[in-house]
Amino acid sequence: MSESELREAIAAHGRLLFGRGYSVGSAGNISVRLPDGFLMTPTNSCLGRLDPARLSKLDRAWQHVSGDPPSKEVFMHRAVLETRAEAQAVVHLHSTHATAIACLAAPGETAPIPPLTPYFVMRIGRSLPVIPYYRPGDPAMEPAIAAAAREARAMLLANHGPVVSGRSLDDAVYAAEELEEAAKLALLLRGQAPRALTAGQVEALLQAFG
Ligand code: 13P
Repeated sequence: MSESELREAIAAHGRLLFGRGYSVGSAGNISVRLPDGFLMTPTNSCLGRLDPARLSKLDRAWQHVSGDPPSKEVFMHRAVLETRAEAQAVVHLHSTHATAIACLAAPGETAPIPPLTPYFVMRIGRSLPVIPYYRPGDPAMEPAIAAAAREARAMLLANHGPVVSGRSLDDAVYAAEELEEAAKLALLLRGQAPRALTAGQVEALLQAFG
């Protein structure tokens, strides 16, 4: 995809995510890798009303070169995109159910949501580490996120929300949506001993789609 197609795609996905209530107000941010740097949603922007022409552009050293000033979560996105060579995009949301799990699960947990459905396993994988709480924009989160990103394509920030990467922007957005629905199911079924996929079923999914 060209840079201008990616700009349009970020705005289109932002509009859909916002429309579904997966981000509210000016919460959430999206980044995409470019041949000469990165595109990011601007700080304090509403994902539902992004202007493709005003997205922040950063160079390969993550210095702001054009557009509005970037998200304060640049360290979060940098940690994932610099750690995971295959990742082309990162989506951070405050989507309600994933954030609820991020308030319940203990930092250090790696499977706070059980493998209830195939698409959760296919999109998120085996591991969803829970990172300790950091205030939004705190550069101190970068090493913790980089360490988690070595093992997992998605993670939960305690009391804050999900961070999800993908091999394309579509892939990252679809995984973030699947994570939100899996979190919702896990909360709906809490205390009811739902049947989870077996280790063998999980393995078969990862072999086929991982
Ligand atoms: P920005 O407006 O700086 O992108 O921050 C929003 C957010 O989601 C903080 O976690």
